[in-house]
Amino acid sequence: MHIVSLALGGCLKGEPVRYGITEDTGGHITYILGEMEALARRGDVEMAEVITRRFDDPRLGAIHAEAEEWLGPKLVIRRIDSGNRRYLAKEALSADRAAFTEALIAELGQRERLPDLIHAHFADAADVARKVEDALGIPFIYTAHSLGMDKRMAMPAPSAALEARIAEEDRAIAGARAIIGSSRDECERQLAAYPSARIGKIHRLIPGIDRSAAGGEISSAIELVSPFLREPMKPVVLAIARPVHKKNLVRLVEAFGKSPTLREQCNLVVLAGLRDDLQSGEAEQQDVLRGLVDAIDRHDLYGKVAYPKSHTRRQVKQLYTLAARTRGVFVNPALMEPYGLTLVEAAAHGVPVVASKIGGPQDIVGELEHGLLVDPANEREISQAIERLATDRQLWETCSHNGQANSREVNWDAYAGGFMAIARQVTAPATSLRPRPAHLLVSDLDNTLTGCDRGATRIGRFFQRQAQFGFVIATGRSIVEARRLVRDWKLPDPRAWITSVGTEIYVERGGDLVLDTDYADGIGYEWHPTAIDDALDDLPVLIPQASYEQRPFKRSYFANSPEMAGQVEDRLRSHGIPARVVFSHDRLLDVLPPMAGKAAAMGHVARMFDVPVEQVFAAGDSGNDEDMLTACQNAIMVGNHAAEIAALARRPNVYLARRSHAAGTLEGILAQHRAQRLRERRDTRISA
Ligand code: GLC
Ligand code: MG
Repeated sequence: MHIVSLALGGCLKGEPVRYGITEDTGGHITYILGEMEALARRGDVEMAEVITRRFDDPRLGAIHAEAEEWLGPKLVIRRIDSGNRRYLAKEALSADRAAFTEALIAELGQRERLPDLIHAHFADAADVARKVEDALGIPFIYTAHSLGMDKRMAMPAPSAALEARIAEEDRAIAGARAIIGSSRDECERQLAAYPSARIGKIHRLIPGIDRSAAGGEISSAIELVSPFLREPMKPVVLAIARPVHKKNLVRLVEAFGKSPTLREQCNLVVLAGLRDDLQSGEAEQQDVLRGLVDAIDRHDLYGKVAYPKSHTRRQVKQLYTLAARTRGVFVNPALMEPYGLTLVEAAAHGVPVVASKIGGPQDIVGELEHGLLVDPANEREISQAIERLATDRQLWETCSHNGQANSREVNWDAYAGGFMAIARQVTAPATSLRPRPAHLLVSDLDNTLTGCDRGATRIGRFFQRQAQFGFVIATGRSIVEARRLVRDWKLPDPRAWITSVGTEIYVERGGDLVLDTDYADGIGYEWHPTAIDDALDDLPVLIPQASYEQRPFKRSYFANSPEMAGQVEDRLRSHGIPARVVFSHDRLLDVLPPMAGKAAAMGHVARMFDVPVEQVFAAGDSGNDEDMLTACQNAIMVGNHAAEIAALARRPNVYLARRSHAAGTLEGILAQHRAQRLRERRDTRISA
């Protein structure tokens, strides 16, 4: 496949060199290069091509005037001449867009073979890609990187510019074959809020990080910070972010300045982009820099805070190493962070983090378990979290170790694998109607199908050969996460998706994946989530799960013991709230409408496909599978099941597999299918 990554100058934040394609800390460019380098390494990619705007401004680097820059045998940057060779900052770019688009279509039109797919970064590039598709038929995928919708709430007054941006983003969402987001917040809340968003087109794909070894060197980092710091080997509190208000850097300096512990024991290093002087850059940048200097001055932090005016990529890496070496902490205090790549970089270097709980950091820190989340508006919370990590040796060690171990799978090759799966899906010819299945396997996902690659491959092959078996997912995860796992584990394409612990069902209709509203209407009767929250509010040690785990018909918590399930049930009953309580994996507790759950959803899906109940198979491993494994006549419990459902093995309808994960599920399907045929033969003999 030949893939083009399209980014107008706008995605370079108006600073093509500073955040530019070679020397930068700007997330977007790191993203595009990381992505394209990894794609170029793959056998199924013939060409990875970055297309951007060409301009001639020697002060910004002669390379931007070159039409072509080869970075590898299959990796090239191609710069399109729009007719205007001046460098244009973000605001000015839109005036040039029509000419750029025309020049790009002309350039592509001359080629012997067209690229197969365009990956448009930001809505302006998506607008260009849409016109390219109209002219030449090349489909496109869209990555927003940051979305305007969220900014609406923060605006004091309606803004025409913002509305125009949101409308443009919506057009990008409408036109793209697929939309890629990094975080759950971005995929499940932000993107989903756009009128043209369709859940089946939204894909979560976790970006990688640059892993080229820093080699443990710290000399050039020291060189960078030593002009500022009296004792450079004190624990480094490190922040790296563009100098814009939403990154909240000034509040970090305030938090540091007001904490006697931090002033005493640590240094603060703030990398806020690159500048010539405090007056350089846009007004917002000047404002932020003035704020930093002012806070440093007010709190008398001289000798304790470094804010270098420029840095190289190598120095950035070395700063992470320095932070790890000095047992420091990385801080991302952003008021809103779409993803937070730096948090993964910190993890890879073994640096614990303190991060904003608004946006992407929630899932990064949740998955890597390498630090603490804080309310970015709360100065005291920020400083206390940093103090805890800087002073609690045990906690620091645990976070440092978790970060390194858990971030290993976050890499650009994994990203590229996922990207190609999406690319194949969107460029494949439309599939013909699938026949009605004779049997259904309704299977849980985590630990029932995931956990072992070989088993997953084998079960995939089984479904390919046995077209009479329809595959249905039944998981506690959200639809976006379920689809990500099915893609990454290369599992077959399900006929239906039962998600969020059997409170949502998605099926394909007219080429679109849609929520089954009949089911939702049926379970939603008398469901009052706020009454549940209120009733459970003061139960100690019942901690709500992340905001995106709270779904329309599912409230989810962390509980510390199985007894909690009973307590929650009692509490809800005494408040007269009808609800079901489901307890899984010793610590996850869900509250659902009384009529919901995996068993109810399984029944609904079987009726939808007109498959009789005795032809339905169900597989699972933990508490939220219990109702389904009890109700199903052909139930399968994998070898690696959780203790909470062990007793189910005694039930005659349950087959306990010797094998674990997908291999256990497959073993169970074959065994239950055999038993079922025997039963059928016996029954026909009796009736004959
Ligand atoms: C999944 C969900 C979580 C739920 C758990 C158990 O992990 O993401 O919210 O509590 O399943 O049902
Ligand atoms: Mg499971």
